[in-house]
Amino acid sequence: NTMLAWQRTAFHFQPQKNWMNDPNAPLFHMGWYHIWYQYNPDSAIWGNITWGHAVSTDLIHWLHLPIAMVPDHWFDSNGVWTGSATLLPDGQIVILYTGDTDDYVQVQNLAYPANLSDPLLLDLVKYEGNPIMVPPPGIGMKDFRDPTTAWVGPDGKWRVAIGSKVNTTGITLVYQTTNFTSYELLEGVMHAVPGTGMWECVDFYPVSTTGRNGLDTSVNGPGIKHVLKASLDDEKKDFYALGTYDTINDKWTPDDPELDVGVGLRVDYGKYYASKTFYDHNKQRRILWGWIGETDSEYDDLMKGWASVQTIPRTVVFDVKTGTNILQWPVEEVEELRRNSIEFNGVELAPGSIVPLNIRSATQLDITATFEVDKEALEGVLEVDVGYNCSTAGAGVRGALGPFGLIVLADHSLFELTPVYFYISKDVGGGYKTFFCADEIRSSLALEVNKKVHGGMVPVLDGEKLTMRLLVDHSIVESFAQGGRTVITSRIYPTKAVDGAARAFLFNNATGVSVTASLTVWEMKSAYIKPYPFDDI
Ligand code: FRU
Repeated sequence: NTMLAWQRTAFHFQPQKNWMNDPNAPLFHMGWYHIWYQYNPDSAIWGNITWGHAVSTDLIHWLHLPIAMVPDHWFDSNGVWTGSATLLPDGQIVILYTGDTDDYVQVQNLAYPANLSDPLLLDLVKYEGNPIMVPPPGIGMKDFRDPTTAWVGPDGKWRVAIGSKVNTTGITLVYQTTNFTSYELLEGVMHAVPGTGMWECVDFYPVSTTGRNGLDTSVNGPGIKHVLKASLDDEKKDFYALGTYDTINDKWTPDDPELDVGVGLRVDYGKYYASKTFYDHNKQRRILWGWIGETDSEYDDLMKGWASVQTIPRTVVFDVKTGTNILQWPVEEVEELRRNSIEFNGVELAPGSIVPLNIRSATQLDITATFEVDKEALEGVLEVDVGYNCSTAGAGVRGALGPFGLIVLADHSLFELTPVYFYISKDVGGGYKTFFCADEIRSSLALEVNKKVHGGMVPVLDGEKLTMRLLVDHSIVESFAQGGRTVITSRIYPTKAVDGAARAFLFNNATGVSVTASLTVWEMKSAYIKPYPFDDI
C-alpha cells in the first residue's frame, strides 16, 4: 500500500515487511553488531514467531540476513520466543531463548552459533537436549519466559534470571549453571513486587557510579549499582529500578522501595516495550534496544504490510548527578547521519507564542534545544498545578509555567502536530517539579489510532537549564530530556505532515512566563537498511 509508504522510517531499524516485536540476543562479534528479533515472516500481525536477524558495523546501517531460527522442534513449535546471548570468556557464545512447546508450555532452550569464525553467525544450532529448563513447581506453564544474559558469581558459577509471576506478584527467578546445559533453581526469588503481574523480558545489569563506561554483565564490587528491569505484561510498559545486588544470596534490593520495579521509573514513557541491553566490548558501553509497537489497528497494519520498529540503540549509564536514575542517549554513531545544521539562538517566546522554524525539510531531524525560563517570573508565581502529570492535560491546556517546547511533524496549518514540551509545577513551599511530555492527541487525522499524552517527571538540578533532544523520523519521535533522564518514544501516523509538507515550530503556551529557546537542527540522512547481497559472495 504505497499510500502509507511515508510512514516507514528512514533511519530506524525495521524489517522490509511483516511483523516484528522484541529485540533478541544483541551482541558484538568480529566487527559486527548483531540483532535478532521476534519476527512473523508470514504476516504483519503477531504469530508463527521466528528469529529475524540483521548485522551492522555501526548500529545504524543494517544488513538483513536470513531468518536464524524457526519453530521446528517440539520444544519451540509454537514459537521461538525471546532470549539473550552470553559471551563466555573462552569466546563461545551461548544463546538462551524461550520456546513455546507443542503443548503451549513455556520452556527455556539453548542454542549456539555453528561456526564462531563466521562474522555473520548465520547458523544457529539448537541443543539436542532441549529444553534445559521447564516451569518449576508453583509456576504457571505460561508464566515462564525470556531468559537474561548470564553473569558469573564470585563462586565461578553462572546465573540466569527469568521473569514470572505468582498470583499477581511479579517475580524474578534465578538459575545457576556451570555448563549451560543443566540448571539449578536458586531458593526464593531475586526480587518480587506485589501487584505488578507477569514480568516479561527481565533485564539485569551493573552500572558504574563513578565512571561513564558501561560494564560487562558479570562485573561487581564497590562503586556499582544494579539495574533491574521488567516489562509488565498487564500494562505493556517497561519499568526499572536502581538497587544493590547481593552476590552471595542472589537477592536484589531497590535503593528506594517507593521506586521499586513496576511502581516507579519507566525506561521510556511512550510506546516502548520489551527492551534489552548488552555490553558492547568494542566501545566499552552498555547499549539498550527497545521495541516500538504500533498504535493503529491490526487491519491498518495488514494493509500497510508491516508492523513495528526498533528504537535507535541508546547508551545507558548511571546518572552521577542525580543518583536516582539512569541516562539514555542515542549512540554517537547516529550523528554520522547529521547534515545541514541550522542554529537558532536566543529565540524569545512570549506567553502564547508559536514560532515556525525555517528549515528545508522536517521529516528526518535531530534537534537539540535549550529553554531558559524567565527567573523573576518563575519566582513570582506562587503555588501552581500541584498534582500535575502529563496525562491530566495536553499541550493545548495552558498553565502559568507551561507547556513550552517543540512541535514536530506538523503541517503548516496545524491540523496535525506532535508537541514535545516541559511543564513546571510549583508547590507552596516553592518546590518545583518539571514534567516532560509528548502530546499525540492531534498527531494524526487518521481514525482508529490510539492517541495519548505520554510523559513523566524529569529531575532538574539547581542551576540547570532545561534541555531536550528529539530524533524525528517520519512516524517516530524519540524525545530525551535533561541528557536522557526521562525519555518518550512516540509512534504516530501523520497524514498531512508528511514529506515536504512537514513543519516544525517552537511554542510557549504558558500564561505566566516567557521562555528563551536556543537550538540546533540537523537534517538526517537515510540509513542503509537492506538485504545482505548474498549473490555477491
Ligand atoms: C514480549 C513477549 C515475550 C515473549 C515474546 C513472544 O513482547 O511477549 O514475553 O517471549 O514477546 O513473541
